[in-house]
Amino acid sequence: MQVPGMSAAVVAGLGTCLPSTKVDNASLPDDLDTSDEWIRTRTGISARRRTAPDVSVNDLACAAAANAMSSAGTGTVGALILATTTPERPCPPAAPEIAYRMGQGRIPAFDVSAVCSGFLYAAAAAGGLITAGIVDSVLVVAAETYSRIVDPLDRSTAVLFGDGAGAVLLRRGSPAEQGALLAFDLGSDGSGAELIRVPGTREQPTGERWFSMAGRKVYLQAVEQMTNSALRVMKDCAWSPETLDLLVPHQANARIVEAVAKRLGLPPERAVCALAEVGNTAAASIPLALAEAMAAHELEPGDRTVLTAFGGGLTWASAALVWPRLTAVHSEI
Ligand code: UT7
Repeated sequence: MQVPGMSAAVVAGLGTCLPSTKVDNASLPDDLDTSDEWIRTRTGISARRRTAPDVSVNDLACAAAANAMSSAGTGTVGALILATTTPERPCPPAAPEIAYRMGQGRIPAFDVSAVCSGFLYAAAAAGGLITAGIVDSVLVVAAETYSRIVDPLDRSTAVLFGDGAGAVLLRRGSPAEQGALLAFDLGSDGSGAELIRVPGTREQPTGERWFSMAGRKVYLQAVEQMTNSALRVMKDCAWSPETLDLLVPHQANARIVEAVAKRLGLPPERAVCALAEVGNTAAASIPLALAEAMAAHELEPGDRTVLTAFGGGLTWASAALVWPRLTAVHSEI
């Protein structure tokens, strides 16, 4: 937990961007051998967004980042970190190009690769840059185009994932302010590296490189790790599930959200479930869920909030904050 008197990274703006094309369960390819009923009852997902062929993950990231800056009421930022599993190319990282396109000059900019935990890993790195006095503000952007790495004919993944982006603007402030990031918990377990993967050039020199996931094993790990990680940040803040207002978990599956809430002893309405219309948007899922929860008045200024994520690596991460007063900005592309 932050020591009073020290500086903290404070959430000052929230922006999101979704592709305008919506694919509902009934519109998935007929030869996928699935059904609307299976998808809704096993995952809670009714639709997902798909990026148009001429839109890149960087376009989504730029739009969400610009929206976060507009939400924060600022035109400049000290650094930019992009969390993505779906970069257009492996090298160079996309963050410098995004910073350049946004007219931010020669600021520090780099990518973070932590799959669905990427947004919170990037937020923790940004918090470190701010509290170490290296920069005064950081744009933390998460953008994903899973439609480009998921095999459209693999029912075990194609029904789950959607494209989208979200961003927060963090600025230096005081731990006593609403919006201050009060505690982080980060972890990994590389023994599970094979459970979520995209084969590399050595494994499949000429073949297609589709995303794969051992769904059931990942499910069990996701429940376990998000529950324990959320408890650790609550402990750091001297909070408990009884005094927590809202849990905002990674949006992989409504059943996972319910299971984590149940394990924590939270009533279902205190765990945000915002995946029905967008599916699993990987790193982008937490900022998108925050915006959705604000729009639904589930998340209000002053709420004691814990964000928790789990993803490939395996990786997990949580953060705690008291939600600030801000207006989220959204756009479609
Ligand atoms: O974002 C990163 C972290 N990701 C996650 O946390 C995702 C974690 N995993 C999950 O959400 C769930 O495990 C899935 C949604 C992926 C799968 O749900 P499940 O209840 O765990 O199903 P299952 O994998 O145990 O499969 C049950 C059955 C199987 O058929 P059999 O072997 O029982 O005949 C599957 O082949 O459901 C079948 N199945 C499907 N049937 C219709 C799998 N996918 C589908 C589908 N439509 N789309």
